[in-house]
Amino acid sequence: MDFLMLADIAKVLYHESTILSRLDEMAHRITTDYRDKDLTVIAILNGSVIFMADLLRRIPLPLQLDSWSVSSYHGTKTTGKIEFRQTRVADVSGRHVLLLDDILDSGLTLHSIREKILLEAGAASVKSCVLLRKNVSRAREVDADYVGFDIPDEFVVGYGLDYNERYRNLPFIGILNKEAILRHAR
Ligand code: IMP
Ligand code: MG
Repeated sequence: MDFLMLADIAKVLYHESTILSRLDEMAHRITTDYRDKDLTVIAILNGSVIFMADLLRRIPLPLQLDSWSVSSYHGTKTTGKIEFRQTRVADVSGRHVLLLDDILDSGLTLHSIREKILLEAGAASVKSCVLLRKNVSRAREVDADYVGFDIPDEFVVGYGLDYNERYRNLPFIGILNKEAILRHAR
């Protein structure tokens, strides 16, 4: 079968095999760091869904998994506001939390969630893990503890990352061409 979405991609940044070998390395580090700790992973949906599935299956620890739905993007620009789609804060008091997100861009998402978990939920520690980190200047003091790849400041899709909710199921990470951006604009 033709890979129909391929016609919409201007450039592939990371092939699936490259992503998976990087996940092996990240999982190894995380496993070593949390070997003797009670780990709770909080995945930020929807963007981290594919990353979460592939990374967590490489971590042989009896971790707990929770997920939060958050959104800040419309199209290819951040709205500068974080929308929590649920109000419940996971019961992580006294636990070691690892936040998983697809990409660290302005840092607003990770910053807001980190604060919420440290202050409201009383976690023992909060670290974060992202597949991608964009090379932009971040106003907030926020960085990720585990990073898959550092990328230039370009809008990317695939492997969980979307453009107006499309292309999350692309098995690799790439840059859309102009036609596809126009076709799915809203
Ligand atoms: P931040 O709050 O600005 O750090 O943005 C984080 C969120 O924006 C991510 O979880 C993504 O959902 C979305 N995002 C940022 N950059 C991109 C991109 O290049 N492609 C797709 N989504 C992105
Ligand atoms: Mg998104």
